[in-house]
Amino acid sequence: MNVKLAEKAGFCFGVKRALDMAERTAETSQAVSLGPLIHNQQVVKRLSGRGIQVVEDLEELTSQQALIIRSHGVAPNVYQGAEDKGIKVVDATCPFVQKAQRLAAKSAQMGQQVIVMGDKLHPEVKGILGWAGEQAIPIQTVEEAKELSFYLHLAVLAQTTQLAENFARIVEELKNHTDDLIVHNTICNATAERQKVARELAGTVDVMVVVGGRDSANTRKLASICAEVTKTYLIETAEELEESWFKDAKNAGLTAGASTPDWIIEEVYKKMTEMNEQEMNMESWVDSCPE
Ligand code: F3S
Repeated sequence: MNVKLAEKAGFCFGVKRALDMAERTAETSQAVSLGPLIHNQQVVKRLSGRGIQVVEDLEELTSQQALIIRSHGVAPNVYQGAEDKGIKVVDATCPFVQKAQRLAAKSAQMGQQVIVMGDKLHPEVKGILGWAGEQAIPIQTVEEAKELSFYLHLAVLAQTTQLAENFARIVEELKNHTDDLIVHNTICNATAERQKVARELAGTVDVMVVVGGRDSANTRKLASICAEVTKTYLIETAEELEESWFKDAKNAGLTAGASTPDWIIEEVYKKMTEMNEQEMNMESWVDSCPE
């Protein structure tokens, strides 16, 4: 079995930047993040070993601590809350998310009805909605778009990790709900590139392994894209790999979500390759066996 690693896999620029900022902050202050810095339990465990704490509410912070804003970003009220409590803020919001926040705020100020395509429960979408104000509407599907009224001016933008095809379908539908549609394609290239590379790779293999957090939206999306093309397994660590998945496979592919560190990808790659070697040894042993 040949193991092929996707050319683009793992940490994106925004996540890498946020982790670097958090680790640098932890060297000099008590660093705390509101929610896990990234959707990967193994990395969160490692960060906690370096003194980076996770809390769920701003109320749990004291002015001695430094608040790391995650790459997903937050609504303006969080900055305000931190300022009111005298908490130092280290803003690791990904610049691409910041752009979406700015566009949402600007569109709302210009009197456009803001539509945010994405998962309304995801922190990034909650943050963008916060910048767009109370009128903003989150939608996820074309069916939801169909239910919208007719607006004088509409502006639509997307959670950075959404699928471009789905966004395009929603944009098409929104054209029926206004004569003035402003489209801000805020989907991040890192996501699109990883998805494209994963789909292409999945087309050349018998089985795909996607490694990343099960609660990471972009990892799950990568897995669903690959599953449309070939047999696909989503795992968090190398320990979850099962030899039976690769039985009869000539080629296996490996990709990883944007919150998966290189060390986990390497472990999975190594284990897949070792399984492969064991299989080859077994085959040569069977071949050399007298009848
Ligand atoms: Fe930023 Fe794109 Fe990553 S928006 S956090 S670089 S997936």
